[in-house]
Amino acid sequence: MTMDTGRSPEDRGQRMAGGFPLWAGAAIVVLAAAVVVLLGLLAVSIMERRWEAQRPAMLVRPMAEWEPDNAVWGENYPREYESYLQTRLDDTKTKFGGADPRDYLEEDPYQVILFAGYGFSKEYLQARGHYYAVEDVSKTARIKTPVNAATCWTCKSTDVPRMMNQMGVKEFYAANFHDLKDEITHPIGCQDCHDPQTLKLRITRPALKEAFAAMGRDINEATHQEMRSLVCAQCHSEYYFKTDEAAGLKNYLTFPWAQGTTQEDMLAYYDAIDFADYVHPISGVRIVKSQHPDYELYRTGIHAYRGVSCADCHMPYRTEGGVKFTDHHVQSPLLDIANSCAVCHRWSEDEIRTRVESIQTKVSEAMMATEDALVHAHFDVAAAVQAGVADADLAAARKLVRHAQFHWDYVASTNGVGFHSPQESMRLLGEATDLAQQARLQTARLLAGKGIAQAPTYPDISTRQKAWDVAQTFVKGAGTKLLP
Ligand code: HEC
Ligand code: HEC
Ligand code: HEC
Ligand code: HEC
Repeated sequence: MTMDTGRSPEDRGQRMAGGFPLWAGAAIVVLAAAVVVLLGLLAVSIMERRWEAQRPAMLVRPMAEWEPDNAVWGENYPREYESYLQTRLDDTKTKFGGADPRDYLEEDPYQVILFAGYGFSKEYLQARGHYYAVEDVSKTARIKTPVNAATCWTCKSTDVPRMMNQMGVKEFYAANFHDLKDEITHPIGCQDCHDPQTLKLRITRPALKEAFAAMGRDINEATHQEMRSLVCAQCHSEYYFKTDEAAGLKNYLTFPWAQGTTQEDMLAYYDAIDFADYVHPISGVRIVKSQHPDYELYRTGIHAYRGVSCADCHMPYRTEGGVKFTDHHVQSPLLDIANSCAVCHRWSEDEIRTRVESIQTKVSEAMMATEDALVHAHFDVAAAVQAGVADADLAAARKLVRHAQFHWDYVASTNGVGFHSPQESMRLLGEATDLAQQARLQTARLLAGKGIAQAPTYPDISTRQKAWDVAQTFVKGAGTKLLP
């Protein structure tokens, strides 16, 4: 300001450096302010129109409080509905995922052994889109006839909130699955995640609210960004069916989060109540079947740490006719990298896909190594039983196998083959392998105590059928002879 420009002080007082008169500067400021205001008004108007386009002032179809029919919602929100309907596509494939219902047991016969005697050894298919939820649960071989817990409907249908309201939550869970068939017909949809009046995201499933309360948190205080994951956590979480006659609870859907949401927290919870889904027919181990803890594993990863939500990757924004909306075709993000990952990561689509596949390949290889150790551990315990080792002496080895299997299944049952949290997945699989090997070491010592020095003879389980036949010998009797 005080620099000598070579002009007289009067000059400096009257003129700006560029030689314009002072009033011109004032005029520019006023003009610029006017432009800013006009642009602002324009932006507001664009945003309002966008919102109007998505949210009709007058609903085309008024919606009842518990409206379960996605098509009715669809009349009001056609873009979201049309994209939702694409969850019907079930022939999409990625290296490890996609909506194609691949058969895990054909691909990996070891799982027939690991789930021997339990429904998952009969049928275990990759998940399809939300559109199929009711159909798939209705025909799976895992649902027992004539009686099965109605609890299995909980994460499948928009009719669930309505029926829970009508019957009472406890009563809903305690009912027979087959008795509700006529009531539960609409697959997962709008009602599950949205309030029909305000359209705000909301939690409709009691188990998640109760799990928050058990941790001393109020789910109503969750931020909007957290809600973009919590709507998924209603169903994509670890759970078990709690039966407590004294409290009048039967098959009450419960998240084992009272001690926290890490794998260790949940295992400690299950151990404290000595919970088991089934007793393994080969090893006699009390098994907890892990149920896709997608939300919990995701929480340990970098994306959760940086506040990226499930919806950011699985429900990216899309633009159609100048209108931006949320894509409701929930699917593998690898089928739409440009709209999901590439919004934040400026790598090429190929680089992104390669990075994900390389993470998944490593996790998958670690998972196979764990399965190998775990399958042998089940047979080693069985061999010890065949050698006449007492149950009391096997308790420690069985506990190791129980823990090993829950560590492994925590990763195996979770969707995404480790991508949601690569380091945590590898850590858990490493521990699982170690626990299984510790169990094998213990049984080897117990066998040695019975004068048996050589390893058991392990049966051929190289195909699904062979594995099934071996498992059946243990389900139905003393099992295939493992010792000479
Ligand atoms: C940073 C992006 C990202 C976030 C955040 C994310 N996912 Fe994923 N998810 C992926 C990727 C990548 C895959 C692997 C897809 C594949 O293998 O084709 C995947 C796979 C899945 C799958 C299996 C889909 C398939 O086709 O195999 C499910 C289910 C899933 N995620 C649910 C969730 C849930 C629930 C959350 C939140 C708790 C979540 N994801 C958060 C990126 C993400
Ligand atoms: C699994 C949960 C889920 C289901 C099921 C679901 N939505 Fe959404 N919806 C979301 C999320 C997440 C957003 C983004 C909301 C946000 O961030 O404010 C959203 C946003 C919307 C919006 C706001 C505008 C937009 O596109 O961003 C509308 C309208 C909407 N959904 C309608 C529907 C309709 C209609 C259905 C049923 C056909 C449906 N939703 C099913 C989770 C869901
Ligand atoms: C009401 C329960 C429920 C909610 C809420 C829910 N899901 Fe699902 N999801 C399921 C079920 C059940 C399946 C398996 C359906 C089948 O195979 O028939 C599934 C399947 C999937 C798949 C596999 C589809 C494919 O193409 O690979 C993905 C991905 C997925 N969900 C992601 C999400 C995300 C992300 C959210 C939240 C925005 C969410 N889900 C909310 C219950 C739910
Ligand atoms: C909303 C933004 C956002 C989206 C969408 C997103 N990411 Fe990320 N991603 C991040 C952030 C933030 C980090 C942490 C590193 C950083 O700050 O750069 C990260 C980290 C990563 C890393 C490095 C992890 C590590 O620790 O080595 C990979 C790999 C990755 N993302 C892949 C993906 C893939 C694949 C998708 C799509 C399925 C995706 N991301 C979607 C924001 C995002």
